[in-house]
Amino acid sequence: MDKLFDKTKINQMELKNRFVRSATWEGLANPDGSCSEKIADMMLELAKGQVGLIITSHAYVNQYGQGSIRQLGIYDDRLISGYKEMVEKVHKKGSKIVLQITHAGARALAQPTNSEPFGPSSLTIKDIISCREINIIEIFKMTEDFTMAAVRAQKAGFDGVQLHGAHGFLLNQFLSPFFNRREDRYGGSIENRARLILEILQAIRSELGRQFTVLIKLNSDDFIEGGFAPSEMVQVSAMLESAGIDAVELSGGTGLKISKYSSSRVSKSDSKEDEVYYLDAAKLYKRKISVPLILVGGIRSYELAKELVEKELTDYISLCRPLIREPDLIKRWQEGDIKKAKCISCNGCFVPARAGEGIYCVVENQR
Ligand SMILES: Cc1cc2nc3c(=O)[nH]c(=O)nc-3n(C[C@H](O)[C@H](O)[C@H](O)COP(=O)(O)O)c2cc1C
Repeated sequence: MDKLFDKTKINQMELKNRFVRSATWEGLANPDGSCSEKIADMMLELAKGQVGLIITSHAYVNQYGQGSIRQLGIYDDRLISGYKEMVEKVHKKGSKIVLQITHAGARALAQPTNSEPFGPSSLTIKDIISCREINIIEIFKMTEDFTMAAVRAQKAGFDGVQLHGAHGFLLNQFLSPFFNRREDRYGGSIENRARLILEILQAIRSELGRQFTVLIKLNSDDFIEGGFAPSEMVQVSAMLESAGIDAVELSGGTGLKISKYSSSRVSKSDSKEDEVYYLDAAKLYKRKISVPLILVGGIRSYELAKELVEKELTDYISLCRPLIREPDLIKRWQEGDIKKAKCISCNGCFVPARAGEGIYCVVENQR
């Protein structure tokens, strides 16, 4: 059997293969952010489809941190019960499930109190972004909110959490010199810009212990002038390694229209060269870091996924859009039909979600 189907362990989490469903906002949460039956059913389909590790869509840790409509939330104890059933369904099928926790920061939707969104620094770029600076008390509160989110995730039965440190959301904003222009201990040097993430990791560890799995999704590059760059990604990964992170998922882009690339690129060709957006970043990472790597972005071919793992360029293969179109893709590959994923990376799946109908593959639906 290919290495892709090795049984492995991340911290205490036993995985049946090396396939990960990368976090995917469904636009199907209940209006208060609680988990809906539709989302639970989608996760069940992924588990039936033999995805080893499912990372949920991003869940906001406090009510100022919501970044998308009908997004999952984990800001209050009353939300815990809604997740339990979903977690149980996934576990019964032998898959593992981790909750992605986030705060949108400067990219937050209209605030519940109509106050301005905040980022690490006040920043106004017409038609792109407008936010005030988060103050030090709010930074301390943020660490508490992320920690409480992790505590709730554990209570709901999740196998761990993933800190969302990518795609231009708050934790990425702190890392990025484009967003973070602070002059205190949370800005300036890379050690200072990484401080909030490291404090959150440490606080979660103090609350839940070393055995609770904590992953992070990091940008390898913001693809923005003056943004977070690959060399800094390696530095931050080294800091996270020393602080005891369990795995790093590499991605890129900020969601702002001034980023050269978005995290979900629209494909221009069908060639193998267009797959694996962050191959160079993975090589950089692997040279210096021994924490398991989860690689996302454009991976569509079985043979390529196999090669990436065999050449030890990554430990895990993470997929988002291919599993919207084919939730049973991993099962299909495991059963020997190793044709490329049907996803054509058109981003049509965002359209119904933004219209309030939830994600689905519009191409598949037209057939
Ligand atoms: C509909 C949709 C929703 C997404 N939601 C999230 C999310 O909640 N959290 C996250 O980290 N990334 C999110 N992403 C980005 C994906 O996880 C992934 O990084 C990106 O799509 C590249 O992988 P792919 O080429 O396999 O699709 C989303 C992407 C899509 C298309």
